[in-house]
Amino acid sequence: MLKGKKVVLGVTGSIAAYKAAEITRALVKERALVKVIMTASATRFITPLTFQTLSNNPVAVDMFEEPVAWEIEHISLAKWADVFLIAPATANVIGKMAAGIADDMLTTTVMATRAPVVVAPAMNVNMYTNPITQHNIDVLKQNGYHFVQPESGELACGDRGQGRLADIKDIVDCVRSLFIKKDLAGKRILVTAGPTREPIDPVRYISNYSSGKMGYALAKAARDRGAEVVLVSGPVSISPPSGVMLERINTAEEMMRSVLKHFDNVDAVIMAAAVADYRPMEYSEVKIKKSDEDMVVHLGKNPDILKELGFRKGKQVLIGFAAETNDVMLNAGKKLREKNLDMIVVNDVTQPGAGFEVDTNIVNVMTRDGDVKSFPLMDKGELSHMILDLAVDLMVR
Ligand code: PMT
Repeated sequence: MLKGKKVVLGVTGSIAAYKAAEITRALVKERALVKVIMTASATRFITPLTFQTLSNNPVAVDMFEEPVAWEIEHISLAKWADVFLIAPATANVIGKMAAGIADDMLTTTVMATRAPVVVAPAMNVNMYTNPITQHNIDVLKQNGYHFVQPESGELACGDRGQGRLADIKDIVDCVRSLFIKKDLAGKRILVTAGPTREPIDPVRYISNYSSGKMGYALAKAARDRGAEVVLVSGPVSISPPSGVMLERINTAEEMMRSVLKHFDNVDAVIMAAAVADYRPMEYSEVKIKKSDEDMVVHLGKNPDILKELGFRKGKQVLIGFAAETNDVMLNAGKKLREKNLDMIVVNDVTQPGAGFEVDTNIVNVMTRDGDVKSFPLMDKGELSHMILDLAVDLMVR
């Protein structure tokens, strides 16, 4: 997605400046072309040579250096950029940008650019929460600047709170998302993800291996394409994508309630969750003690959420997943018909690199008219966009 894209990376004088080296590496790894501008204070934390080496381009610091090309350098960099990223951005630089102050190479170039600007702040918590900083951020947001929120945690100064530079992956994701087509703008999409847990007693439950990676990747891809996303998630250990409405559930019944609450107001439902088909019929309020006897747990049927949606279906596009181990396409076709789906994504979970827990998947996608498309081993993020391409086609029919 970033291959050949021109990124101007502005680095300012924060202790997090060293992380900009990692950002440069991540962008270059995606084959983006990177040119770095540093403020004078940034050069006190990390040398221009580091960025020059990593980006394979000269680094601009001084406004009054001989221009490399015939054009004045800040103007040429401003025009060159497809996207302008400032990471880390200090309160000082954010304040200058909001006030229209252009007194060095970075602030002058950012003022002269027509490219989208992404700002990743990093500073002390009190500086970040200071109403003046927040006002400056609002001013820039109103003017179309994109922000990647800093994280909370222990800060370099020893304080705790929000102010730590966002994860490098999230910063690069934000840059990448600017180049993604917004063909789901105005659409509301409900995605389910992860396993359900069906409790036996306060310490035991029945569940499965779903990590939530497939569903979370779909939610993120839909968000990046402009959709309003409701993510109904079972218990997982991965972080949800920012900017989606997250509803956490444990059991299949809770997932059912959450999904039905939103169903009338969404354009599409993608059920990537691995919902337990059965639950223990009795729940013990106290921990069941070990005995010398075998233990029998009677299981009752859980509601089939997707089948219920298929029954209630109006204008919504319904997309299911099928995790299969045998008679893969036969079983998936049966589910597609029985649950009244528009499309089913079939993963043969016996294949290495497919299905539960891994970052990749291998799928066949079957539509209700019997058309089947095969997708080889690929990252779940990439696959999500392929699935959404097909979903968009169904939504405009
Ligand atoms: O989370 P990951 O680790 O990334 O793994 C991804 C995945 C393997 C979980 C995902 O790709 C996947 O295949 N999800 C569906 C797994 C599954 O439960 O399939 P199923 O064949 O049992 O169910 C078919 C469809 O009906 C699914 O869309 C399921 O969400 C839905 N269902 C199932 C049972 C039930 N009681 N209610 C349902 O709505």
